[in-house]
Formats: sequence, C-alpha cells, structure tokens
Amino acid sequence: MPEPTRRLFFALWPDDPVRAALDAAGKALTGKRVRRVPADNLHVTLAFAGPVTAAVSECLERSAAAIRLAPFELTIDHAGFWPRPRILWLGPRHVPPGLWALAGALRNTLAGCGIAPEARGFQAHVTIARKVAQAEPGAEIPAVGWPVSRFCLVQSVSDENGAVYRPLHCWPLEGE
Ligand code: 2AM
Repeated sequence: MPEPTRRLFFALWPDDPVRAALDAAGKALTGKRVRRVPADNLHVTLAFAGPVTAAVSECLERSAAAIRLAPFELTIDHAGFWPRPRILWLGPRHVPPGLWALAGALRNTLAGCGIAPEARGFQAHVTIARKVAQAEPGAEIPAVGWPVSRFCLVQSVSDENGAVYRPLHCWPLEGE
C-alpha cells in the first residue's frame, strides 16, 4: 500500500481584515462572468511542497519552526493576468526584501526535507479567479496594506466543489 500523503504548501495567510480587503479588491476588479476564489481561500503561496508523507510533513514543521526572520509590510497594489494558467491575480508592485528572504528560507526548508525546488521562481501573488478567458479591463486596485507577522503550513483538500485550504500550523516572524 502506498503511504498516505497530504498536499501541503507554505503560505502567507491573511487575518480577517486583510482577507476582506483582498476580497473586496478582487470583487471590484472582476465582472460577473468570472468565478472568484472564495474569500476563505485567499493567500500568497510561499513554497509549494505538493503531496508529502507524515515523515516529510514533520520535517517541514521542524525546519519551519527554526526560521528566524523579521516581520515586514506587504502592499498589494497591482493586478495581473497569466494567460496560460488562466489566472487573475493581485500582487505587490514591489516585493519587500523580507518576503524574498522568507520565500528563500522556505525553499531551503523544502530542499532540506528532500523536495526538489520548483523550476519557476517565487512569484508573489494572490490568485483571485481561475479559468479566466481573458484579462479583465483595468489593473488598478486600491492598495491593500498587509502587515506580515507570521507564515503558515497549509493543507489543500479537494472535494467536488474545488479546493479548500486549511492552515495546519503558523509560526511568528519575530527575528531581527
Ligand atoms: P496558484 O494560486 O498560482 O494556482 C495551493 O494549490 C497553492 O499552491 C495555490 O496558491 C497554487 O498557486 C499553488 N500551487 C499549486 N501547484 C503548484 C505548483 N506545482 N508549483 C507552485 N505552486 C503551486
């Protein structure tokens, strides 16, 4: 029997006010034809692990707990469209150094637990709609300020309605 696995990723998981602001920005940007990602699912993926066994998940938790990085401010002030995955997204025009550092540390965490790094580099974005046929007009959004003081290990569970994301464990950013 193959070992059971869970589909996991590290993410910035917004608190309720930031989640509501991201949802409102997405709503203002999209027309009625677009099926938006439910507000409860909004996040920034930092490092994608994919299906992992319990042993690998423990390794990820141990390694994440050892990360010592400072909190930072993220400003989500831009919208974009990627035609190939047909994704509409929100993101920062400027990726703060703290976010690069966190994504890099988690990439190392994955590698240390035996997970090959993704070919594509880190692209800071919040997916707000999938299966979008074409870019919606206008990429201007009201800036959403996101004070980032934690990161989370999140499980993706798929059912007939799509994916639901469950944060399993969050760690504070409280280093230098
Ligand atoms: P997306 O929003 O750009 O699709 C859970 O599936 C999260 O992990 C989503 O945010 C998704 O990004 C991201 N994700 C899914 N598959 C991935 C992969 N192979 N590499 C990197 N990120 C992935």
